[in-house]
Amino acid sequence: MIRAEDIQQLFGSQLARIENTSLRENVVKAWVIGCQRGGYENVDQLLAMPFTLLTDCRGVTFVEHTIAVTEGSIGLAKAQHEAYRSMPYVIDMDRLIAGALLHDVGKLVEIQQDGSGGFVKSRNGKCMRHPISGTVIAAEAGLPDEVLNIIACHAKEGEGRPQVVETVLIHLADFATFDPLVMKAKGSLIE
Ligand SMILES: [Fe+2]
Repeated sequence: MIRAEDIQQLFGSQLARIENTSLRENVVKAWVIGCQRGGYENVDQLLAMPFTLLTDCRGVTFVEHTIAVTEGSIGLAKAQHEAYRSMPYVIDMDRLIAGALLHDVGKLVEIQQDGSGGFVKSRNGKCMRHPISGTVIAAEAGLPDEVLNIIACHAKEGEGRPQVVETVLIHLADFATFDPLVMKAKGSLIE
């Protein structure tokens, strides 16, 4: 079973930057619920999970993707905080980091281990995409509605929908990791 301490170890550097203790604990709780529902019994199984089945990940794992998107969205927020004399809107860093760590938590149940080292779409994944299943898991773990907006609206489900500003930043950080892989697979990434 994957425990809270395992999640704290995987995302220690990012979790440490969430100031609100109960928010931080609920992020960990959502990950533990997701791992349990997804049938992950140990960290090695979790570390083997690819970040998507939609394109060739070229070895990038789900955990690496989550860290890259979290750090990327923190970077986008930092860029505006440092460049602007005055912020035109408030970026809530706690919400940003919590939402980024959880944006894909639904993938833990959308994708499943096939028993021979591979990963396939699960029954749950056929019924709903990870923005929906992730929102359900995070709601169960007690995350606030604004973090649920991030999870629910970070991908195409959120196009044209009302969003907190943190959703916008996380969406862009997410696609900054996804689009180059898709382009590389299609031969349209100039290298
Ligand atoms: Fe993602």
